Amino acid sequence: MNSAIQKLGIGSLLALSAAMPASAQQQAAAQPVTLLDQAWSQEDREWYYNFSQGSAIIWYDVFLNLEVAGSEELFRSDANSVRFGLIPQAANPRTNPDAFPVGVTKNVVTEGRWKGETVGPNCAVCHTATYRSSSDEAPVFITAGNGHTTNVEAFFRYLVDCARDPRFNADNLMREINLVTDLSWFDRLSYRFLIIPITKKRLLEREAQFKWVYRKDFPDWGRGRDDAMNLTKYFMIKVPMDDTFGPTDMPSIWNLKKYNHEKNMRMNWAGDSHDARSVIIDSALGLLGAPPHDKDEFLAQVDWLYDYLTRKPAPKYPFPIDKVRVAAGEVVFDRTCAGCHASDKTGTRIPLAEVGTEKDRLDSWNKQAAIEANRIVKEMGIERPGLVEEDLNGYDVPFLDGIWLRAPYLHNGSVPTLRDLLTPPGERTKVFWRGYDVYDPVNVGFVMEGAEAERVGTKHDTALRGGRNMGHVFGTNLSAEDKDTLIEYLKTL
Ligand code: HEC
Ligand code: HEC
Repeated sequence: MNSAIQKLGIGSLLALSAAMPASAQQQAAAQPVTLLDQAWSQEDREWYYNFSQGSAIIWYDVFLNLEVAGSEELFRSDANSVRFGLIPQAANPRTNPDAFPVGVTKNVVTEGRWKGETVGPNCAVCHTATYRSSSDEAPVFITAGNGHTTNVEAFFRYLVDCARDPRFNADNLMREINLVTDLSWFDRLSYRFLIIPITKKRLLEREAQFKWVYRKDFPDWGRGRDDAMNLTKYFMIKVPMDDTFGPTDMPSIWNLKKYNHEKNMRMNWAGDSHDARSVIIDSALGLLGAPPHDKDEFLAQVDWLYDYLTRKPAPKYPFPIDKVRVAAGEVVFDRTCAGCHASDKTGTRIPLAEVGTEKDRLDSWNKQAAIEANRIVKEMGIERPGLVEEDLNGYDVPFLDGIWLRAPYLHNGSVPTLRDLLTPPGERTKVFWRGYDVYDPVNVGFVMEGAEAERVGTKHDTALRGGRNMGHVFGTNLSAEDKDTLIEYLKTL
């Protein structure tokens, strides 16, 4: 082994293995943060960002002490967190004493193989958005927003790659841990012989489960997307890997009261789940990766989330709006879009042939998988309407509340701005960068190209599977003036 590399110690191998570019968002990390008023108490917000969902990815002490590349920077530092699109936040003695980024939480596990203190994600990792009005401004946090910056796939690969590295061993790690903590004799022994080997083993077990995120024939998910139904198949139902690939955008999850499942409305991009409570239960079980230790406590947390996300309104457009043009745009909307997006079709599934967007996400799920997943949850003694036991044939017509923030657009995030969505598919942007959070009020979306966007973001190529920008041709042949006024109106939703 190269001795220069060896000298860097355990923290460094994390950085070496990932080769992530340092991001421009690092500067933003040190700046003060603005919280958009979303009619929530500060206490609720703190809970959402920091509550422990019980998920365990790595031991707390190990996570706390890991360092990055030859520097003294901690793995969990703001600068390193933003490389994965995680949102740094200040320490809070009550809810976040270690200043972990939004959605990364400490858990105390009282039983089972993860007994002890661990670190894992909660919903806020994928369901919190940020935007900035210019690159030198502080980010605004939007709770329950679309997590368009989070790079889930890179984070998992990073941890697994790190455990795979032969330098992830007790000798190296102990040196680093001793540097920053003062361990007792007993603690030193348990780290050397128990905690570190087990951490490595657990991370490597995940390698097998995550095999499909290393497949060379699949493009990267990129920032703000994950392959949700395949995650469910491989982690919950544990079916063998197939060749399907259906990454989708992290959606916003505010204002869930809009879904009325008695009116045949369905949840998730392809309408594969019956109601909001079911989705919350399934998401929470997915994070947990095991049956809940205390079912009542688990369901109480689900109820809190349900209540919270049901009540919470979409955020208002924060930049100037031209009211006269909004009125004109509303007429265009009523004529061209309302038949689907403000009608009894809204929130229900329409056939793929009618919308014409990419099919891959539909292929990643099926009736048998839904039956299996429902059986597993039922066996845990949890009652819910659950997943729709049908093969999927189309996409939900999305509600458009807060659509100004929900770029990139369509289920697979293949269209960077609203203006681009109103352009005929053949003329839409072919390559862009996702996950940069500077806002573009002219085209409505995030800045998608240029030096900064390319440094911070991940490249999205619409020629590749799982990310093609076909379909949804509605409004693409409107006049330039009608498109402009329609876009102005869409900002107000
Ligand atoms: C690793 C990222 C990730 C985490 C963590 C996560 N979600 Fe999601 N969530 C997604 C993605 C991606 C989808 C879209 C799935 C699809 O339809 O393809 C989604 C869909 C949803 C939806 C459906 C939205 C709609 O309008 O149909 C809800 C509600 C939701 N999640 C709630 C939660 C809750 C509550 C938690 C925590 C218990 C959570 N999620 C954790 C990524 C995540
Ligand atoms: C025939 C029904 C139909 C009509 C008409 C229609 N849409 Fe859609 N729209 C859909 C469906 C279905 C989707 C989801 C498709 C997908 O994600 O693959 C969608 C998605 C969208 C999205 C992306 C939502 C997101 O969160 O990414 C936007 C924005 C949108 N439509 C705006 C419009 C506008 C503006 C018009 C009028 C010019 C319009 N739609 C007309 C059915 C329709």
